[in-house]
Amino acid sequence: MNGKVAIVTGSSRGIGKGIAQELLASGTKVILNGRNEERLQEAKSNMINISNEVHYFCCDVTSSLGAKELIDFAIQTYGRLDILINNVGVSSRGNVVDCEPEVFERVMNSNFMGSVKPTIYGLEYLKKTKGSLVFISSVAGIRGLPGLAPYCASKMALRSFAESIRIEESKSGIHVGLIYVGITEIEHNKESISADGSPVVLDDRSGKKAQSISYVSKKVLKNIKRRKFITTLSFVGVLNAFLQPRVPLLVERLIILSSKKFEEKSK
Ligand SMILES: NC(=O)c1ccc[n+]([C@@H]2O[C@H](COP(=O)([O-])OP(=O)(O)OC[C@H]3O[C@@H](n4cnc5c(N)ncnc54)[C@H](OP(=O)(O)O)[C@@H]3O)[C@@H](O)[C@H]2O)c1
Repeated sequence: MNGKVAIVTGSSRGIGKGIAQELLASGTKVILNGRNEERLQEAKSNMINISNEVHYFCCDVTSSLGAKELIDFAIQTYGRLDILINNVGVSSRGNVVDCEPEVFERVMNSNFMGSVKPTIYGLEYLKKTKGSLVFISSVAGIRGLPGLAPYCASKMALRSFAESIRIEESKSGIHVGLIYVGITEIEHNKESISADGSPVVLDDRSGKKAQSISYVSKKVLKNIKRRKFITTLSFVGVLNAFLQPRVPLLVERLIILSSKKFEEKSK
């Protein structure tokens, strides 16, 4: 990883920040990204003690111009791009019957288009370095789950997008990775979108069974180093990925039986 150049979208906090720290510790030069400049500045100052090869570019990756400028910034700063991690994502809460259509649009725009746009502009540079293109998905992207339909749909869309690119670019030597992340600790005041479109602050997960950000970040680096396609995290994720293609109706039954517990966990 030493000397490589990485962009991590949505890295001013949470999992993206953890991945950026892990990359810096491995000798990679990192471009942080987010929409809030103050948060980015703070994240960068926290990382300077790991390495001073850290910069940020403030933009919304769901905008074509923002996504293009982010890639251009990496090329202008370091002259190359070896790793693009599409981490930006927002979750939603609420059953389909209660959801405003606009919630689907916002979640798809953030999680799907927010990964598609940096990828389109970054691919030509990743091809030059035979680099890594990584998508941060979720165990909610393995099968449709109750109360999370927009989120599940957006993460499932990433799967087919990644599969198409793997085939299209099979001769160019780039690595495409997809990480199914399980329930992970969150930073204070992380917001999700409720069924009516208003923001909802998620409960603190410190007392709950949640993976640590550091664990998830290390697994992402391992995926890149081994150039694996799919990395599935958490026991529930691995079990779901194994059972879903084989016995989907059994999985559905198990989810219905545990839906109360599931609702509690995803609050
Ligand atoms: N936490 C979990 O339990 C969990 C589980 C499975 C999968 N995941 C996935 O992991 C990823 C990160 O989740 P997280 O919990 O770390 O999220 P988070 O704490 O809400 O952080 C999201 C980051 O993305 C930035 N961001 C959001 N929208 C953006 C946009 N349009 N353009 C640029 N930056 C944007 C945010 O900064 P600004 O708001 O300042 O832009 C922030 O830095 C997501 O894809 C999520 O679906 C998370």
